[in-house]
Amino acid sequence: MATETTMTNKPTGSALMEKIVALCKRRGFIFPSSEIYGGLNGFWDFGPLGVELKNNLRDWWWESNVRKPPTGPDGHEIDIVGMDCAIISHPKVWEASGHVAGFADPMVDCKACRGRFRADQIDVPCPLKPSKTVGNFEKCELTEARAFNLMFKTNVGALEDASSYAYLRPETAQGMFYNFKNVLDTTRVKVPFGIAQCGKGFRNEITPRNFIFRSREFEMMEIEFFVHPTEATEWYQFWRNTRYNWWCSLGLQGKNLRLRDHDPDELAHYAKDAGGCCDVEYAFPFSGEKGFTELEGIAYRSNFDLTQHVKCSGVKLDYFDTKRNEHYLPHVIEPAAGLTRGLLAVICEGYDVDESRPSPELLRIHPRLAPIKAGIFPLVNKDGMPEIAEKIYKDVRNQVGPAQMDEKQSIGKRYARMDEAGTPFCITIDGQTREDGTVTVRYRDTGTQERIHQDQVVTFLRQKLSEEFRPGAR
Ligand code: GAP
Repeated sequence: MATETTMTNKPTGSALMEKIVALCKRRGFIFPSSEIYGGLNGFWDFGPLGVELKNNLRDWWWESNVRKPPTGPDGHEIDIVGMDCAIISHPKVWEASGHVAGFADPMVDCKACRGRFRADQIDVPCPLKPSKTVGNFEKCELTEARAFNLMFKTNVGALEDASSYAYLRPETAQGMFYNFKNVLDTTRVKVPFGIAQCGKGFRNEITPRNFIFRSREFEMMEIEFFVHPTEATEWYQFWRNTRYNWWCSLGLQGKNLRLRDHDPDELAHYAKDAGGCCDVEYAFPFSGEKGFTELEGIAYRSNFDLTQHVKCSGVKLDYFDTKRNEHYLPHVIEPAAGLTRGLLAVICEGYDVDESRPSPELLRIHPRLAPIKAGIFPLVNKDGMPEIAEKIYKDVRNQVGPAQMDEKQSIGKRYARMDEAGTPFCITIDGQTREDGTVTVRYRDTGTQERIHQDQVVTFLRQKLSEEFRPGAR
């Protein structure tokens, strides 16, 4: 395959984000939620391409953790079982977890503009004078900071009083803790083992911002990994490295991805005495001076959560370790990743501008993640080409994954549409196909083409989908 000759004029910072948001809307990845009513701040809808990309990312996480879990530090495959818990649980869950008392951000109000801001994030434009930041315009009148609980409250049942309060879950983790005994009783898992869950979380963020990065409804992918207390440090190191490598496997590598250990004063209450917490961080275009922002946190939670649930529910949750002949509450290592944020990182990493192309914008996404695996084009709408294209399209759709048949516009415009959608390959049926049965395969990332036999298209695509992604070899 020829090497790429990209002539790039890719913007940076907020100009780059504007381009990415526009592409996501234009191509049906992400729309502002309830847009025809003016939208709702902090909520987003995933369109036809966005939902495919999101599902592919989630499936890859599930595949690499639940279906084919990683090999542990001792060389043995580890056990991780999946769960899908209710979004609303008993309100006592959130008292036990500490969320009712402490899941809050500091908030300030401005009496002049009536805006409400996170006290630690007032580096945003003042609504009255956007050229200045909040607090720096002479009319700003900020109140003292006070705690604002981020959980969304609702009522369960017909009564709307304190007896019916419940919360939308702010994390999926607690369902896996309060079901710990159910999982032990119904499976053959033995410590060390994990429970994994992917699903929605809700946080009434004071200032949702940066597109889908900080939203009020989002999806997360969490693992609670239960270990013997004396082995916790070793397992923490294991997950720290394993999770970083997983993000690398998506093509987020090198200068844009890093692993950062928390400073002692950043550690969450449960991790303080226990010893460890780190973040996998990505250099988003809006990461600003800090350069990087969080994609996933890997925390050593000790046995804080299980202890709390024992205390608040009165139910024993300890584990009997037959090998050690010992009862104990296992300690937990928690890799907690953002699916929504991961999707944004994949889009930011893949977005590129190649000025040598008539339509320069493209998304270089791993073929396994790409929403459409192949575009199938009859060069012209006659001479038997549409019929051959139709057959290839059906084969790809049934045996590989989503494909798109496109017969409209010039071939260049059809390629450009697919480049923007992140489609890694386009298959074109032309005059030669009828003579020798070959079709052209055009590579999204290089624009180069080769001919393969039409009977080889499915095998070719399957092979490409299974390959490691090597961003350096685009
Ligand atoms: N159970 C641990 C936990 O909830 P967290 O760091 O608060 O940890 C996990 O959340 C991940 O969820 C984060 O690393 C981030 O990727 C994602 N996340 C958190 N808040 C978010 C928000 N408002 N919008 C989008 N993603 C968010």
